[in-house]
Amino acid sequence: MTETSPQGTVAYDVIDNIAWVKFNRPEKRNCMSPTLNREMMEVLDALEFRDDVGALVLTGEGTAWSAGMDLKEYFRETEAKGLGATRQAQRESYGWWRRLRWYQKPTIAMVNGWCFGGGYGPLFACDLAFAAEEAQFGLSEINWGILPGGGATKIAVELMSFRRAMYHAMMGENVDGKTAAEWGLVNEALPLAKLKDRVTEVAQVLIKKNPVALKATKDAIRRVGEMTYDNAEDFLVRAQEAANSYDNEGRKEGIKQFIDEKTYKPGLGAYDKSRQQV
Ligand code: COA
Repeated sequence: MTETSPQGTVAYDVIDNIAWVKFNRPEKRNCMSPTLNREMMEVLDALEFRDDVGALVLTGEGTAWSAGMDLKEYFRETEAKGLGATRQAQRESYGWWRRLRWYQKPTIAMVNGWCFGGGYGPLFACDLAFAAEEAQFGLSEINWGILPGGGATKIAVELMSFRRAMYHAMMGENVDGKTAAEWGLVNEALPLAKLKDRVTEVAQVLIKKNPVALKATKDAIRRVGEMTYDNAEDFLVRAQEAANSYDNEGRKEGIKQFIDEKTYKPGLGAYDKSRQQV
């Protein structure tokens, strides 16, 4: 049964170990108000360590994924209240995107429709992203007179080539899901009618993997980008050793099922973690 946050800006279901979390302001194209930002953080908090949640999908109700920041409630109304309110609103939105970037469980953005501006924050925060071909992506900030803030410029440069990032940010033109995939904003684009099945398939693969290894892997991918090769090599040794202290048996079981039992091949799939002795 679908649950909603107290003011209804976020809706979520947990089905077969997958948490389906929705921006739930379809009448406002799921733009992010301070209320939504606060409620999203609460929902993410509540789901993060639940044993029945193995992966989280972030999607949108209605025709939008998210039309970015709420120009009225996030910008105009907080600015009218002064610097303190503006900083608070920034902390609340950046806060849940940061939580999502380093989330305990694997995360997937399922971009069903419009994705603008501030929406790039949660888009990048999700580990993987799949879009409907019909979705539209845009750094629309330039069209209403600001630069792509809230991390959006950084995200454009992280995900796209210099020329594409520059064009995308300066022109304020939208691209569809297919182009977003070509440009690296998302992993894949597929027809909207097939989007949920594909995302379910990917989430089902992820929830069968060793969860400790998965968290260590996704964090490592985000961390090493800024490191020299030698620093990354060293970091990865230490990250694996730290992961071992949370899960000393998983990798031994993985080796055993391959080398001794010959029941799977790591190059072709994951070991059966349900057979692991705790
Ligand atoms: N902030 C505040 N309100 C927004 C909003 C936003 N980012 N995006 C949509 N809305 C509101 C509209 O004001 C409208 O409210 P109303 O019904 O009270 O008039 C409602 O959501 C529906 O929007 P509408 O523009 O009628 O929907 P549409 O389907 O014709 O167009 C968009 C969808 C996304 C193209 C259009 O709403 C839009 O351009 N939104 C702004 C996108 C943007 O620049 N975001 C970047 C912010 S950093």
